[in-house]
Order: sequence, then C-alpha cells, then structure tokens
Amino acid sequence: MQIDGARFLADLHKLRSFGAAGVGKGVVRPAYSAPDVTARGWLAKQMTEIGLRVEIDAMGNLFGLAEGPSILLGSHSDSQPEGGWLDGALGVIAALEVARAAKEAGGPAVSVVSFQDEEGRFGVTTGSAVWSGQLSLAEADVLEDHGGITLGDARQAMAAMVTGDAASDLFTGFIEMHIEQGPALDTSGDKIGVVTDIVGIRDMKITFEGEQNHAGTTPMHLRRDAFQAVSAFNTLLNDRLRNVVTPQTVWTIGHVSLHPNASSIVPGRAVFSMQWRDADTDRLARMEAIIRETAQEVAQAQGMALNYGTLLGLEPVAMDARLRSALEAGAEAVTPGKWRKMPSGALHDATNVARLLPVAMVFVPSIDGLSHTFAEDTAEDDLVAGVQVLAHAVGALGSGA
Ligand code: GLV
Ligand code: MN
Ligand code: MN
Repeated sequence: MQIDGARFLADLHKLRSFGAAGVGKGVVRPAYSAPDVTARGWLAKQMTEIGLRVEIDAMGNLFGLAEGPSILLGSHSDSQPEGGWLDGALGVIAALEVARAAKEAGGPAVSVVSFQDEEGRFGVTTGSAVWSGQLSLAEADVLEDHGGITLGDARQAMAAMVTGDAASDLFTGFIEMHIEQGPALDTSGDKIGVVTDIVGIRDMKITFEGEQNHAGTTPMHLRRDAFQAVSAFNTLLNDRLRNVVTPQTVWTIGHVSLHPNASSIVPGRAVFSMQWRDADTDRLARMEAIIRETAQEVAQAQGMALNYGTLLGLEPVAMDARLRSALEAGAEAVTPGKWRKMPSGALHDATNVARLLPVAMVFVPSIDGLSHTFAEDTAEDDLVAGVQVLAHAVGALGSGA
C-alpha cells in the first residue's frame, strides 16, 4: 500500500480550515459547534468518495464503513475550546489516507471513524462512551457543558445528518493514531511511540455555596466567600495528595465559575472542575477519598454548603498485544531504532473502544510537548512517518486483525 504524503497533508490542512482560529495553527471546533458539524459533513463526503458507506449515529459519531469485516481506524474531529489542529484530526485524516491507499492497493478492508465529543464538552469522551455502551444515550443527554447546555439539546445540531448505528461486530480491531501531547518523544528524539497502556481518569464538578455580599462593607470575619473556599481547598489538597501520588499522577482544577463574578461582590458560589488521572485504579480511589474529605473540611471551616456533580471516569486499559506488535514492526521498518514503547497520559477514544475490540495506538512527537493550546504542532515529516507506520501495521494485520 502506497501512502501519498502530500495528499494526506492537504486533507489535514483542509480539516484545520473548519474552525481555524487565526492564531498559529489553532482551531476552535468543540463538539456540535457549527465548524464541527460542517467538518463532519466534509469528512462524510471524503469517506463516500473513497467508496465507504457513511453511518452517523444519534451522538454524531461518524463512520465510513468498508464492505465485510474490516479494521477500524480513526480518532475524533472535535476540539477543545482552544485546541490544536492535530489533536484527534490527525488520527481521522490518517485513517482516511490509509483507507484510500488500501483501496488503491486492492485491500485490506479499512473503515474510518470520527467519534464525537472526545474532548469532553459534556463529560469524558462521550461519543465513544455511548457507542461502546459505557454510557447510555439517556445518561449522556442530561450531561451539561459549563454554560448549562445539555448534550441532548446540543446534539440536535446534527439531527438531520443521523443515518443509523454502526455495529461493532463489523470490525476486527481498532487502531488510533494521535500526537503524543506530552514531552517524551520530543525530548528523546524518537519519531514514533507505540502505546502500552492508557491511564484512567476521574472527573467531577464541586460546588461551594457561601453568601453573596457587598465587597466594601462586609467585614472579613463575617464573609462566607466561595472563592476563598476554593483557594483553601486547592492548597490543602496539593499538600495531602503528595502522600499518595507518583511522579506520573496528575490532577487539575481547569474550570472555575464564580457567581456572580464581579469585582465588588463577595462571591456567593463557586463551581469548579476537579479532575485526576493515574494508571492505578486503587490510587484513583484513594485520591477521591482525600478530595472529598478535604472539601468537607473546608466547607465546615468556612460555612459553605458543599455539593458534588456526577463522578465521571474511565479505567486504565492495556493495548492489545497483537495489534501493538504490528505497530512495533511498522515503527522499526519506518523509523529504525528511533521509536519507543510508552504509556499514554492523555485519554483517548481507544479506552472506550477497548470494551468491544482489540485496540492499539501509535504516537508521533508533539513539538515542545505542547497540546490543548493553539501552539500545538508536529513536524510534517513526523506526521507522514506516523501514517506510514499505521499503513505498515494495517498491511501486516489485514482486514481480519
Ligand atoms: C483528552 O483530550 C484528554 O483530556 O486527555
Ligand atoms: Mn485527542
Ligand atoms: Mn484532546
């Protein structure tokens, strides 16, 4: 099978044009936004043009299906609210190129997917979570984004495009190509990462409810300031987590919403996201207990009501040995001595798909380890090398992977 690097890069740049942010190569293409829906329409057309049968399910997951049993390749085409041009997009366009090259070569059969809302506007990888049965559509529909819009309402933006479900028994395995999104490959100088495992995640909203009041007249000792509660919680938590974490464990408060968010008002309410990730399920549970104890203690000390949103999460998963060794052989053929095995600290649709199919992942370097920022980028030679590794693996596995 012959990969056409120029054709692949042209398609990748075309996908970037949907939601291009005008800052570096960044994109703003969150799930169900106008650029996301238009991009999915364009992707569907590309799939049709290479002879794949398009199915779009109620969540907006977009499949291009080959005839008979096939290997499934792909990722997601939605972005973070400020996203890079490659996160997800790379895996979808690489899949399209490998499917096209495989058609031209007379096989093997390759299907393509772009899952919806991998970036978790509404939760954690919600499109593939619903497709794989991790989450029901009814459960997904009531999830809200930070602006209070439900997924059920947002997905109406794609209602006219829905055709039906793609059954997982059509596929013999799933391979997702992705940028690393961290510094390991950029630092080591390796060109390819073959993923061993994907970490687990927990994510929930926490609310401190105090008392809204005047910022000039309310004495400090009488305040019940919800921001002060968040601040105290964060400081205490960082200290307490140190006893249970490893250097690979991460936790983030990435979204804080203060009410009413005005300079002269003591904030009465703070709602914030609390997310933590680790490769060990027991450690994730120990962290949860510490988070809840600390929040409770701060709420009591500062006179706050405390509420938790739904705890969302995905378990750590190992990659399939057979698919993984096909990628390792591909990496050695395309970039001899310049690849490594590595875990993924980012989440991927592959985690959900692993409930149904053997899965594996291949990474290319992220320049300066940057991702989830407009500055995200990868050298074009590295992008093409990654597609060649993917094609090599698919050629070796055949449709019956
Ligand atoms: C996916 O983008 C993640 O948050 O790891
Ligand atoms: Mn991604
Ligand atoms: Mn991402």
